[in-house]
Amino acid sequence: MNPLSPIIANQGNRRWDCLCLGCCAFDVIARVEEFPHHDRKEFTDTLACDAGGPAATASTAIARLGGRCAFFGAVGEDIFGEYIQEAFARDGVEPHLKEIPQGSSLISMVWVDGTGRRTIISSKSTLGSLSAKDIPHKMLADARALHLDGHQMEASLGTAEQARELGLALSLDAGSLRPGMEELLRRCHVVVASARFCRELLAGADARAVKELLSMGPTVAGVTLGDAGCIVGSEEGLFQLPAYPAKVMDSTGAGDAFHGAFLYALIKGDDIPTSARLASAVAALSTRELGGRAGLPTLEEAEGFIAEKEDLPIKRL
Ligand SMILES: Nc1ncnc2c1ncn2[C@@H]1O[C@H](COP(=O)(O)OP(=O)(O)OP(=O)(O)O)[C@@H](O)[C@H]1O
Ligand SMILES: [Mg+2]
Repeated sequence: MNPLSPIIANQGNRRWDCLCLGCCAFDVIARVEEFPHHDRKEFTDTLACDAGGPAATASTAIARLGGRCAFFGAVGEDIFGEYIQEAFARDGVEPHLKEIPQGSSLISMVWVDGTGRRTIISSKSTLGSLSAKDIPHKMLADARALHLDGHQMEASLGTAEQARELGLALSLDAGSLRPGMEELLRRCHVVVASARFCRELLAGADARAVKELLSMGPTVAGVTLGDAGCIVGSEEGLFQLPAYPAKVMDSTGAGDAFHGAFLYALIKGDDIPTSARLASAVAALSTRELGGRAGLPTLEEAEGFIAEKEDLPIKRL
């Protein structure tokens, strides 16, 4: 049973599968065997630039799977903003980026070590905030889902309110605890949190935390646990999935990919374990390339990957 079916059943034909609102960034990613010490100069043959940001990469994941997506966020009037804009267009996501004249686009420096794990340094935002007025009511009324990442909080809270009234399915990537997050998660139907978020706000990153999230309002909740997989579920019960074994080049954006694919499968009508299995496959495949987006699969590739791997043992908790 798909827990979002009462929402989806009332939607009729809508143009957009998903509108995404939040953070978009320019990532510089370098992979080194070992992090350098002071006064050392390291060389690497694996250094790349990619567009990033949680909701932004989730929108790309959905578009790569075949979904119709648009993204709302802010950039500065600089070459990084232009790059971010072009990356969306290349990936078939309709970008709605507000150019902030005195602001600088967000830049993240991502260091990936020999195991594929990453450390990130991000510039602090000078982009000010969007408001709910920046998201056209007409587009919202013509969308099936809204995905948020907790950035652009003022616009997110206002848009979430309108989106609920318009019958959209609302999803939140609860990556880090920031002001307004608890209020936002109470307005969303699907809330999947990072392990860090669960440790900061709740009892810990485990099944109890997922139950706690469910008690706060969402219909579907979960926690992602990196290479240890995820726990997702609803009032009907929880499911634990391991991560797919993957040859990890870079795990940047695996969570973003998971959120996008999970929501996409749910709004297409899949049940929770099937949606989480697709999300795990998309996230695992996203780690095969440097950067958050280069490795994102098409639906055909993700389904092929699932078919060729051994059945993922899904445990009912
Ligand atoms: N090394 C890995 N191998 C295979 N799958 C992975 C790996 N790391 C992550 N995943 C998949 O991606 C999902 C999300 O990962 P994770 O919990 O690290 O997200 P996150 O904390 O939101 O991080 P980020 O937002 O930086 O991507 C996991 O539940 C898992 O399915
Ligand atoms: Mg994340």
